Parts: sequence; C-alpha cells; structure tokens
Amino acid sequence: MSLVTTTEMFKKAYDGGYAIGAFNVNNMEIVQGITEAAGELKSPVILQVSKGARAYANHTYLVKLVEAAVIENPEIPIALHLDHGDSFDICMKSLKNGFTSLMIDGSTKPIEENARLTNEVIKVAKCFDVPVEAEIGELLRLDEAGAQMENKNVANPEQVRQFLDLCQPDSLAIGIGNAHGYYKGEPDIKLEVLEEVRKFTDIPFVLHGCTGMREDIIKEAIKLGVAKINFGTEIRYKYVEHYEEALKTNHQGHSWKLSQLANDALTEDIKKIIRLAGSEGKA
Ligand code: G3H
Ligand code: ZN
Repeated sequence: MSLVTTTEMFKKAYDGGYAIGAFNVNNMEIVQGITEAAGELKSPVILQVSKGARAYANHTYLVKLVEAAVIENPEIPIALHLDHGDSFDICMKSLKNGFTSLMIDGSTKPIEENARLTNEVIKVAKCFDVPVEAEIGELLRLDEAGAQMENKNVANPEQVRQFLDLCQPDSLAIGIGNAHGYYKGEPDIKLEVLEEVRKFTDIPFVLHGCTGMREDIIKEAIKLGVAKINFGTEIRYKYVEHYEEALKTNHQGHSWKLSQLANDALTEDIKKIIRLAGSEGKA
C-alpha cells in the first residue's frame, strides 16, 4: 500500500463511529514507534507535521521517513498530513512534496477571510484529490505553565454555519475550549457546540489538543462525529521520558539502543490511543 489520503479513512471512521489517531512526528524514531503500534493493531494512522517539525527536519526528510514507514507497514493505511498550515504557500509546498492531506488554519482571521483562504487551498488540492481540513474558533492559548492566556476559541454554531456556507472543506476542526499543550486543571470542553453543529452538517470533525483531555470526553466527541483525534505534546514528552529511562541502561554509547528502547515504550503508549480512538482492526 502507498501513502493514502484521509478521504476513505474518514468516511469509514465517520460511518463506523470511531476516529483515527493523528500524531505529530518530527524524526525517524517517533515515526517508527507510531507506525509499529498501528501495524500491530491493524489500524489506519495519520502522521502529521507541524511548523516546528518542518523547521527541524525539512519536507524531504519527513516525506522520505514516512514513505519508509509505508514500505515497512504495507498492510495499514498511512496518511501524511500538514498540521496547522497557515498559508496558501505552505499548503502548496506540502502538496507538491507528496503530503496526502492538508490543513489550512485560518482560524485567527475573520470568517469571510478564513473561508476565502480555505477555498483557495481546496480549489488546488481538489485537482490532486487531496482532502483539506479547515479550522474555525482559534485554539486556546496556554502559557508555559499551562495557564490560559485567552479564551476566544469557543466557536458559535451560527458562525460555523456561516463558514460552511462559504466553503466546503473535507473535515473541520472547531474550537470548543480545547488547547495545545498540557491543560492546567480540567479543561471545559464544550461538546454541545459539536452537537449543535452536527444538526446541520455531516462533515467529519477533528479534535485538536487531545493531550490531557479526559478519555470520556474524547469518546463522547467521537460519538458526535469526530473522525480524527490529534495528539502532539503527549507523544513528544513520552518519547523524551522513555529516552531518559533508556539513558540509565547499559547502552554502551549506541544511540540506536537508546532509540530502540524509547520506540518500544512509545509503541505501547500509541496503542492505548489507538484503542481509545476505536480504530484497532480497521485497517
Ligand atoms: O495539531 C496538533 C494537535 O492539536 C496536538 O495537540 O499537543 O495538545 O496534543 P496536543
Ligand atoms: Zn492542533
């Protein structure tokens, strides 16, 4: 199997009442740890790339690493997704470099401008059968300690309706009190927004900021048609923790031994998320 788009994945997930785990990747070890877990559980998986990852390992390395994972795991569908693309240019660059799913995040802009930018990306991506995720309701911002800095991300269902009247992305992330990074205390996730929006559209939803979100909330969100659950912070912190543990072993200076121990442990973490998403056995 080669890299796939998220179109088929989302259709099956939405119809089947489960979600696909989308994990932020930036190096070979994390790609291996995630895809090994997905391979063992026969689950589709989305590997996504953020601005930071692109700055560290450019498109060339990232695409080739993910292509290697596809060759190593031929029995599962793997998609390569641009996470929080914030301009037309970065979406086009990703398209050209072989990404099979794009996110255009215009959520900091007024609705009309967000929709206009989203439409520009959709117009081109459609020619290549590459699906586009859009966002409305900017994600909450947290400071270094996890404290809330702003709270303007809970989208109003009416605004979502306006947005979807102006553009038709393939999936939609909606700000519902979620944020990137570790939450300080219990986040107030407004599932009722998804419930209201679900009354007038069957678009698959995307849930960002899943690190630290309660599992029952994530499961409820999936019941409301969330087809993609995004995990970034938890993955990178877990990987570093496992690596620190590996440093205490008799590694004899072999960095691959450290990576292998960290990968194996990360694989177990990812399996838990795949089971939470409900995508085990759905490859
Ligand atoms: O776009 C990426 C995700 O929303 C990751 O969020 O780092 O809080 O898990 P997280
Ligand atoms: Zn996000």
